[in-house]
Amino acid sequence: MALTIITATLFFLIFLLSKLPSSTAQEQPWIQAGYWFSGSGFPISDINSALFTHLICAFAGLNSSTYELSISSSDSQLFSNFTNTVKQKNPSIKTLLSIGGGLANRSHYSSMVSQSSYRKSFIDSSIKTARAYGFHGIDFSWVSVGTDSEIANMAILFDEWRVAIESESRNSNGSIQLVLTMAAQYSPYVGNGTFPIGSINKNLNWVHVMAFDYYMPKSWNQTGAQAALYDPGSEKSTDFGINSWINKGLSANKLVLGLPFHGYAWTLVNPKDSAIGAPAKGPAINIYGAMSYKDIKGYIQTYRGVLQYNATYVVNYCTIGSSWIGFDDVEVVKIKVAYAKKKNLLGYFVWQIPQDDNWVLSQAAQEDKKTTINNKGRLLLVILLTATAIIILILSSTMWYLRKRVLRCIGLADEQKESESKLRTTMASIENTNVPQVFSFTDIVVATNNFSNENKLGEGGYGPVYKVI
Ligand SMILES: *[C@@H]1O[C@H](CO)[C@@H](O)[C@H](O)[C@H]1NC(C)=O
Ligand SMILES: *[C@@H]1O[C@H](CO)[C@@H](O)[C@H](O)[C@H]1NC(C)=O
Ligand SMILES: *[C@@H]1O[C@H](CO)[C@@H](O)[C@H](O)[C@H]1NC(C)=O
Ligand SMILES: *[C@@H]1O[C@H](CO)[C@@H](O)[C@H](O)[C@H]1NC(C)=O
Ligand SMILES: *[C@@H]1O[C@H](CO)[C@@H](O)[C@H](O)[C@H]1NC(C)=O
Ligand SMILES: *[C@@H]1O[C@H](CO)[C@@H](O)[C@H](O)[C@H]1NC(C)=O
Ligand SMILES: *[C@@H]1O[C@H](CO)[C@@H](O)[C@H](O)[C@H]1NC(C)=O
Repeated sequence: MALTIITATLFFLIFLLSKLPSSTAQEQPWIQAGYWFSGSGFPISDINSALFTHLICAFAGLNSSTYELSISSSDSQLFSNFTNTVKQKNPSIKTLLSIGGGLANRSHYSSMVSQSSYRKSFIDSSIKTARAYGFHGIDFSWVSVGTDSEIANMAILFDEWRVAIESESRNSNGSIQLVLTMAAQYSPYVGNGTFPIGSINKNLNWVHVMAFDYYMPKSWNQTGAQAALYDPGSEKSTDFGINSWINKGLSANKLVLGLPFHGYAWTLVNPKDSAIGAPAKGPAINIYGAMSYKDIKGYIQTYRGVLQYNATYVVNYCTIGSSWIGFDDVEVVKIKVAYAKKKNLLGYFVWQIPQDDNWVLSQAAQEDKKTTINNKGRLLLVILLTATAIIILILSSTMWYLRKRVLRCIGLADEQKESESKLRTTMASIENTNVPQVFSFTDIVVATNNFSNENKLGEGGYGPVYKVI
């Protein structure tokens, strides 16, 4: 009897699933991008590109006399093999070449955008270089933009860039247009105004929103949630930034949310006061207090730190002695990806791939599928449910038949109960295999304990490479 009800319920579920309208939002691409920074020294062939839809190769520079792209000879070798190398693990991966970055000289970019002939050199060279190296697109990462005239010129640059990209695609026998994106700070407010949102909407495929580095130990003498999703007491939060971009007119589906794979370590004034916002006296652990996720996990493991979670800000932190380390762990990454989906953003990107620990964060970001069941998932679910229903039907009819025979021969009612409980156990184990795997702190294997970052930091390998100059 119970089995019949279960089977009927399953068939009803299958019916419901197949009737659900497939909304257009589910058809939209979902960007899962990641930056690879050459200064990290991380081998390109080690990138697990199956975890991403787009990989961004960083950074090309700007020649201040010709306004063409400049790529050092060592980077040139790496960049030219980037796309082919990452395609090996994911043939459908798309790659972008990022120009600029936190260490770029602001005045060179300011000068480049200021004159039509300079912009033309820059644009033509960017398209030629992207094609020559086999990239599918270009990412513009001028993160120090700020004056009114720079912003106005940036709008013109994007207009001209899109026209050039369209014309290049027509003139090369209709080859697919290069993708054009930019990296921007967490909120649209810059200088006296905002980024050129009209031009961005019209000309760019999307914006990489750098939703992190709100507080850094070098410049902030309290512990801070460097990438707080929410902050009831301040505008320095991801939710504030995203809402502002949308309120200022940027389409939500042009926004790609940044996930930091790094955190910051402060030295507490009083180790007993270790709340978020507690008094601090500068960086801990290294000169910038900047640490990769991998190094943070190693440090916490070594010193047996206890992971804390604050749900107001959506942040993890850990206090070890007088060091306070704030960062995003697996749970926070999942919450942020779910947030991006809820807000109908275009996707997420990670800064930066090499700082992950054994792909734990990249996987957590990729695996969050709770909020949307896409068509593939729906099909899989229907197949699974149908198979389960059929198995239950076969089992129950077999049992019914056997029971009848057994009862007729011996009249044992107990056996029926036993087989039914066995079946229930089997069903329970079938259900259990569908429970999504949850990574806990103890599951994470810490590979090394190499947290002396001074050298890498000198190369700008961590968060501060995006610090606004
Ligand atoms: C800029 O380009 C010019 C001309 O190609 C070249 O001579 C010069 O070395 C380049 N400068 C830099 C900093 O790469
Ligand atoms: C890049 O690829 C070329 C040929 O495919 C190869 O000769 C060269 O060694 C590669 N360079 C690097 C830095 O891997
Ligand atoms: C940027 O370049 C200009 C001239 O090319 C130079 O004078 C200035 O010092 C540079 N600024 C930085 C921050 O490197
Ligand atoms: C902001 O506006 C004031 C007055 O118009 C101007 O002097 C100043 O340069 C502007 N600031 C920036 C960053 O453009
Ligand atoms: C476009 O196609 C034509 C004929 O197939 C060919 O002659 C020409 O070289 C192609 N142009 C480019 C830029 O690939
Ligand atoms: C922190 O900075 C603020 C403002 O810059 C200053 O007033 C305060 O004294 C500083 N506190 C400490 C503990 O350094
Ligand atoms: C998060 O931290 C703030 C500041 O330290 C505190 O006021 C708040 O109660 C904390 N929230 C949770 C949920 O722990």
